[in-house]
This record gives sequence, C-alpha cells and structure tokens, in this order.
Amino acid sequence: MNIRPSVCPLTLNIIKVRLPHWRMENHSLLYLIMALLGFLSPCLTRLIPRVSFPLGSPGRHLTHFSSHDVSNTTTLLLGKDGDMLYVGARDAVLELDVGHKDAIVLRNKLDWSPSEKDLEQCSMKGKKMADCPNFIRVLQFLNTTHIYACGTFAFSPRCTYINSETLLMSVKPEEGRGRCPYDPYQPSTAIIVDGELYTGTVADYRGNWPVISRHLSEGNRVDLKLDDTLGWLEDPTFISSSFIPHEEKIYFFFSEVGREYDFIDKFIVSRVSQVCMSDVGGQRTLQRRWTTFAKAQLLCQANNELPYNVIQDMDTLPPAEGASADETLFYGIFSSQWSVNSGRSAICSFRLTDIKSVFSGNYKFLNRDTLQWSTRVQEKIANPGKCGLHNASDNVLHFVKENFLADEIVRPVGRSLSMVSAEHSYSHLTVQRVQAASNRNYTVLFLLTESGYIHKAVLLQGGAHIIEEVQVFKQPQIIKSLKLSTSKGVIYVGTSEGVVRVPTANCSFYWTCPQCVLARDPFCGWDPASRACVKASDSQTSQDVDRGNVEEACNSVSLTKKARFAVICISGSCFAGELVSVSLNEVVRLQCPVVSRLSQQLWQRPNSRLSPDLYLHLEDGSLSFVATPTTLGHYLCVSTENDYQQTMAIYHVKQKSSPISETPTSYIPGTGLLQQTSVGIWGTQVTIRQLGRNLSLWTKESGEIKSGTQEGNPQVLARGPCYLTELMVVSVMLVLCLSLLTTILLYVIRQQCHRQTAPQLGTTTRNSNRSPLVEQEALRTDKCNIQALHSRQASGFVCNGVLIDSNGHLETHPYLK
Ligand SMILES: *[C@@H]1O[C@H](CO)[C@@H](O)[C@H](O)[C@H]1NC(C)=O
Ligand SMILES: *[C@@H]1O[C@H](CO)[C@@H](O)[C@H](O)[C@H]1NC(C)=O
Ligand SMILES: *[C@@H]1O[C@H](CO)[C@@H](O)[C@H](O)[C@H]1NC(C)=O
Ligand SMILES: *[C@@H]1O[C@H](CO)[C@@H](O)[C@H](O)[C@H]1NC(C)=O
Repeated sequence: MNIRPSVCPLTLNIIKVRLPHWRMENHSLLYLIMALLGFLSPCLTRLIPRVSFPLGSPGRHLTHFSSHDVSNTTTLLLGKDGDMLYVGARDAVLELDVGHKDAIVLRNKLDWSPSEKDLEQCSMKGKKMADCPNFIRVLQFLNTTHIYACGTFAFSPRCTYINSETLLMSVKPEEGRGRCPYDPYQPSTAIIVDGELYTGTVADYRGNWPVISRHLSEGNRVDLKLDDTLGWLEDPTFISSSFIPHEEKIYFFFSEVGREYDFIDKFIVSRVSQVCMSDVGGQRTLQRRWTTFAKAQLLCQANNELPYNVIQDMDTLPPAEGASADETLFYGIFSSQWSVNSGRSAICSFRLTDIKSVFSGNYKFLNRDTLQWSTRVQEKIANPGKCGLHNASDNVLHFVKENFLADEIVRPVGRSLSMVSAEHSYSHLTVQRVQAASNRNYTVLFLLTESGYIHKAVLLQGGAHIIEEVQVFKQPQIIKSLKLSTSKGVIYVGTSEGVVRVPTANCSFYWTCPQCVLARDPFCGWDPASRACVKASDSQTSQDVDRGNVEEACNSVSLTKKARFAVICISGSCFAGELVSVSLNEVVRLQCPVVSRLSQQLWQRPNSRLSPDLYLHLEDGSLSFVATPTTLGHYLCVSTENDYQQTMAIYHVKQKSSPISETPTSYIPGTGLLQQTSVGIWGTQVTIRQLGRNLSLWTKESGEIKSGTQEGNPQVLARGPCYLTELMVVSVMLVLCLSLLTTILLYVIRQQCHRQTAPQLGTTTRNSNRSPLVEQEALRTDKCNIQALHSRQASGFVCNGVLIDSNGHLETHPYLK
C-alpha cells in the first residue's frame, strides 16, 4: 500500500450540523463551531507525489519560450490542430509555432500598446505605471479566420479583430467595456460561441459593477446583460465559463457573497449560473436583459466538515464517447474562506445532470421587507432558467426576474470530495480522460500549485494517487494559466516569465517493469516485447493502475521476491556487488537510489542483522557506519513499495590492501549518467539502469530544491582525491573525538568515585562482553564522523571511493561486475 498516514481518524458524527441550514444569531457561537470543525477536520490522508521532477530535471524535458520583450504571457489560446499557440501578453499578441519537438518558435507578433497620452492619463488617475500597459485578457476564435482580443489598455479596455494567419488587426480597436476588466488583476471570463461573445466581468473603472453579458450578437439579436435592479450578483469573482452544445447553454462559474446565509457578513459561496444561447431578452419586461439567467450554489464539502467554499478554477470534462451529454463533468478546485483550512485545496466534481435538476427545481424568494431569503411557497407560474421565453407574458417574465436563485444546492459527485490536499494550494487545473491498456477510462487531473509544480493525479476508487510532480516555475506568479492539448499530449503554462510546455507523460523514465507498474500511470504500460515502458495505447502492455500489483503485471519478467538474496553467482562467475574499499575506522556511506517517495528503503546483510548501535540510516536512504572487521562484507539495499520488494543496490565493503595505491573504485569520471549495465543476478538477464537522474528529486524536503544538479557538479567531478582537505578534516575530527573521549572518561571516573558500593565488576564485565571496547570506540568515532560528514556535505567530497556531490548524490556505479 502507499504510505498515506491518516492524520486523524476521528469521525465527526457528534456534530450534526449541516452548514447551509444554519441560522445563527450569535456570531461567536458560529465561530466557535467553525473553529471546532476546523480543528477536527484534518482527517486527511497525506498525498505525496510519487516522483518529483525539479526544474531542469532530465526525466522531464520542458520546452520554454521567453523573450526579453515579451512578458505577462498569461492568456493562452490553442489553435485548432494544436500546432499553433496564441498568447496574450503585455502590449502584444503572439503566435507561437508549437509544432516542433524541441522548441517553441515565435511566428508572428502583434504589438498593441497604449499611446504615451493614454499612459499619462492612466497614471494621472492614480494607477501604478506597471499596471497601465495593455494586458490581453480576452483571446478567442471568432471564426475560422479571425481572433477576437481584448486588453485592459491603460485602464480603458479595448477589443479588436485579429487575422489569425497574419496576426494583423483588421479593424480599429473598439471600446471593450463589459468585455474585459479595467484592472489587469481583476478576474474575468469570456467565451465566444457561434461568433457571439459571452463574458463575466466588471463593467466599470472601480470594479463595482459586475455583469454577465452577451456582445457581438449576430443578425438582429440584441446584446444582453444582467438586470441590475435586483442584485443578481453579489460582488462576484468570475472564474470560468463553459459552453455545453447539447444544452445550448453557457455556464459561468464564480464565487460571491452568499446573501441567503444571514449569519455572517461575508460568507462566500461558489456558484454555477446559466444563460441560454437563444435568449433575446423580453419585449417590455426584461428588455435587453437575460430572461434565462439562473444561479445555484456549488458545495464542495465532505460530511460534517467545513466546506471548501471558494472556487479557484473549473474545467469541463466532456462525456466519454457514446455517453449522454448529461454525463459531462465539471472539475473544480476549491479553497476555504477560513484560516483553519488555509493553504488547503479540495477538488470536487459536479455532474451536468445534477446542475440541470437543481435549475429545474424550486427557487428561493427574497422578502423585500426583511431582506431574508426563503424557499418559495407561493404558486410557481414559470420555470426560471428555461430557454425560449422570448414571447412570454410580462407576468411570467416578472416572475423569472425575481426568481433566479435555485433553492437546492448542487452537490459533488458521490457527495464527497475527489481529492484534498493539506499541503498544497492548487490554483489551476485541467482534466483529461485517459484510456488505459485495459480499455478502462481513468480521470487524470493536472493541478498547478502556487509554488510552481504541476501535480499529475489519477482518481481511483480508493482516492487520488499523485503520480508525479513537475516544477514549471520558481517565482510565485500572480496570474498564470494552464492549457492542455490532448492531441499533442502536452500542457502549456503561461506565466509572467513566458510559456512552458510540459509533456503529460514520459513513460521511458520508468526503466523496469516494476517501476512502470508501480507508477500507476494510466498513460504508461510495460511492453514485454520491447522491454520498455511505453505509451499504453495498445492493450499488449502490462499495467495495473488501480492496485499497482507488480507480481501480477510483471509475471512475464521473473523479478520475484525470493530471488533477492541470490546475489552472487550466475553461470559460473560471481558478482560481488559494487566493491567499496575502505580502511578500518573510516566512515562508510552507502547510497541507495530512491526511485519513489512512496517507497521505504531497508538495508540488509546476508545472515546478519544491522544493529542500530553500529549503523546509521540517513534520511536520503543511505547507510552510514564505521568500517571495522565486523562491518566488512556484503550489503543490500531493498526498496519496498506497495508490498513489492526490489533490490536497489548491492555493495561489497572490503578492507583496502594498501591505502595509498588504491584509487577510488568504480567511479567513472565525467559520466555518472545513464549507465546501462546488465547484471545477471536474478537468473534472467535483467537490465538495470543506473539512475543518472537527479536523485535529489526524491530526497528533497518541502519543495526546496537546488536545480542544475542533474549533470553532477562538474567542479566536484574534476577535483579528484583531495587529501589536503581530508587531512585537515581528519585532524579536526581527531581533536574533537579526543576531547569527547576525555570528557566521557572524566565523567566515568567521576561516576565511579561517587559509587560507595562494591566495585561494579559484574556490570563492567557484562558490558564488555556485549560490545567489545573496540566497537564502543568505533561507535563514538562513528557518531563523531557522521556529524563531520553532515557538515562536509555542503562542499562535496570523496569518501571511500564514493563521490558525493553537493547534494549528496551518488555518482558511482552501484553494481560491479
Ligand atoms: C524521459 O525520461 C528519459 C529518462 O530519464 C530522458 O532521457 C528523456 O529525455 C525524457 N524525455 C522527455 C521528453 O522528457
Ligand atoms: C470572420 O470575422 C471577421 C470579422 O468580423 C470577418 O471580417 C471575416 O470575413 C469572417 N470570416 C469568415 C470566414 O466568416
Ligand atoms: C415570438 O415573437 C417573434 C417576434 O418577436 C415572432 O417572430 C415569433 O413567431 C413568436 N414566436 C412564437 C412562438 O410565438
Ligand atoms: C506582469 O509581470 C510582472 C513580473 O514580470 C509582475 O510583477 C506583474 O504583477 C505582472 N502583471 C500582471 C498584470 O500580471
């Protein structure tokens, strides 16, 4: 099983409160209960990405686009065939050719910046000069030949038509009020359907007038907006919009103040709202206003826990081929308004059928005198949210106008969260349905963390499994975007710094069948014929996404548990593991490649136990000890993941014959990368590839990684034996150890002197029987040396033929022929 420590197994059945039905008069009581809920709510299983690729890691080749005169590349639009990427940047629209494998090439650039006069006016209005350029916020295909673009244009939004081939403006820019925000930091959403632009944004300079509107209406249809007399929106933050062709409806996702909850001043709720494409407004009532607007609450909440009430992003997953449109799913990231849950994110999915049934149900009613919302009891004379009310009577339209908040709440699929992360704040997501080798479909989420990683998670019966994380930027970004190209199998990330392309999978990173299966990546399967982990497009590949059962999936490859001590001999010749020559009383450090953060490393010696007195297990999986006659011999590092054991390294620690003439063993200068070695230790020819990849990936703590280590540290590599440093360090250690020894000796003598009873002969004897003096001394030296070892790690050094670079990576061959 994966390591998923349950932080708190408490159930919360005692607190039978369903938040949406609270009617509190006493705020402090509410806060108390919330705090209590918050305190009890972290019943979370920790989700650890199995593998981590920091920026620059060779296991995940990223393609960057950046240019000195291009910044804030935060609006992305993918061309129809996936070969072009249109980018809205600061004062520019770019056309990037993304059809090349290794590079993203700038094809065309449209400069579109405010004039000096515009900028002057902007700064005179008291705006920061850095916020006055034209930040492109709307970029959508209008038709096959043109793109429609809007920008903030010095706090005076403009829109224009751009030829998608030449990237030239075809008409003079027009006013963009209600289509694009004034403030570049103001969230907004826009979508073009059949040449008509639907937007959710603010329509004034101060950002106080939110609207959902239609522009560029075709033919003799009128442009529509919200009726603003009744407060259809309450200080919303627009997140996204989605067009569902089957319904002929546009859905908007946003958060706003939930006025229906009267217990708190600003209780945020997440919403889905809808309008019909066919809407043309009313004839007298609701003229030029939506007649089909309705909104409902989306509630991302697990049983009896605080809701994750603030929507951050939403992506639409169309139904599987052949399934009904009602099976369309919306996956959203939600965070919490309350500090007890800050930094946490939850993922919830909502089904279109559930949204539809809430919209076709009852609506809430606002009592204008008390300003209290309640469920409508009077007769329902129309169905709000229904399309096709153009010729309806004033009476009906009046009813529709007043009834726009659905009474029921849209709850997530399965009434539970798809995933919760206690450690990561996710800001963006994109979702893909992946057909695995078994022909089963899996839902894979790509989640962008605030700290700049993409988490790839597969949703399974037992919960989410994070297959990997890939770092895409370092500096935290205020505005960023994510675009998935399923046809090309890549994700584009737009930030202030440029555009990054990330492949959705790299199966060849997994170089053995067990690694390929343990990854549980629906994109990847083991192909026994080519003996490689490949794209799992055909059913010939072995895979077990649900359980990651290696024994079953890899049975054709005889890599079994029982063979793990059959180390030494094959067809007459014996393999003794990597030879490590040491002199007595030296500190030996043996590295074990950690290929997964979900694995546990265990060191073993044939026929002997590793006493914790003599051996130090370091956090990165390596083993450290002092060479004594008893500690010479064979060592194996066995990695256990998901109940499957694999031998990751074998060493033979031997005493040096002559300490001067011996050179560091098995270290091949300048390589240290991807060495392919055939080691016949398991009876069959098993190919094991040395991890020339950046092993710090799996040992890093809390996302703090130094990049650029994957090539090894050339300075360290070039250094060769450094006896001077060694000498100095050894001298210092000697002094330290001697003083420690003296202290201990003095202490012991003092203790002895204080004893009034008969000499403790028996005790001493037993002690020395158990661990001979040599060993005790060794132990002391050991601890001392290990401390020195830690302090020296920062510079990199050669220790017993094992070269350790500044990150403590092993650069030697773990298997020796
Ligand atoms: C996939 O991983 C392999 C092995 O680490 C590496 O050589 C290769 O460059 C990677 N490919 C991509 C596209 O990241
Ligand atoms: C696309 O829209 C533009 C701007 O309205 C127009 O000039 C152009 O002719 C249209 N192209 C097609 C193929 O309809
Ligand atoms: C609705 O009114 C329009 C004119 O406003 C008219 O053309 C249309 O036929 C009417 N439809 C129905 C169903 O009455
Ligand atoms: C534009 O990018 C800069 C950093 O390059 C950042 O400080 C600024 O906030 C960004 N502006 C917007 C509107 O995204």
